[in-house]
Amino acid sequence: MARMPRVISSRAGGESRDEGPDRALLLASVLGRDRAWLLAHEEAALTEEQQRRYDALLGRLARGEPLAYLTGEAWFYGRRFLVDPSVLIPRPETEHLIDEALTHLRGYAKPFVLDVGTGSGAIACTVAAESPNAIVYATDTSEAALNVARRNAALQHLRIDFELADLLPSDAALRFDCVIANLPYIPSADIPQPPDPVSFEPRKALDGGPDGLQEYRRLLKVLPSRLNPGALVLLEAAPPTIGALREMVAEASPSAGTSIGLDYAGLNRYVRVALHREG
Ligand SMILES: C[S@@+](CC[C@H](N)C(=O)[O-])C[C@H]1O[C@@H](n2cnc3c(N)ncnc32)[C@H](O)[C@@H]1O
Repeated sequence: MARMPRVISSRAGGESRDEGPDRALLLASVLGRDRAWLLAHEEAALTEEQQRRYDALLGRLARGEPLAYLTGEAWFYGRRFLVDPSVLIPRPETEHLIDEALTHLRGYAKPFVLDVGTGSGAIACTVAAESPNAIVYATDTSEAALNVARRNAALQHLRIDFELADLLPSDAALRFDCVIANLPYIPSADIPQPPDPVSFEPRKALDGGPDGLQEYRRLLKVLPSRLNPGALVLLEAAPPTIGALREMVAEASPSAGTSIGLDYAGLNRYVRVALHREG
């Protein structure tokens, strides 16, 4: 048995960032406890095996690996999601798209919703949980990501139709009232390199081609015919590419209303596309 490392107290001398909270979360995950338990049990001891696992996790953290991959969990819209290196770690900025979608869905009894490029399932699961009458579909081209998404939906007791598909579900008869897409949107030349934590996330989830808009260009060719009148489409992208994405949308759907949504930092983060209702 080894004495439990002191990880709750704040930064060690000279560190530019307080890593104490990250270390505490790693320690809690090794012990299968939460941080409140650690605070109450500062004198508890680690077994040799726990010490080995903790040291290994500290090494991975020091090499830049995101904390969420080390603990296997991330939080999105107040819910816990399992994550592993096959999925993007859900980001707080994507929560703005959820807020918009939920406001739109309030006007429907039984809306059809699509999450394109679902990753961990964070968007699909959140919409299904917050809007229980919605019929939610989700696609991804990564089988490994879909496995994570299915596990998250099962843990939250949610019914979602997941499909391994390129952009849209294969059932061409489906029409949607709300589509949310957070497709890969980093220009290929800007993909971060190690030890940047983002470099540990799947290339498939990051790389948006030469201008970062390759997948959206493809989506906008096939999506308009799959939308119901009055549908809302929300497309997340990188702030410098939002203007170009909005122009692409206007070209693909000239009669739709478009506007730009901001993230928590006040940066342009998504394009909002509102289709007119008929009649
Ligand atoms: C930026 S991640 C977003 C994950 C999740 N929606 C979120 O917001 O956390 C993009 C996801 O799109 C998937 N993807 C990439 N190209 C795709 C395509 N053509 N069709 C469907 N999914 C795609 C990737 O595998 C990845 O899981």
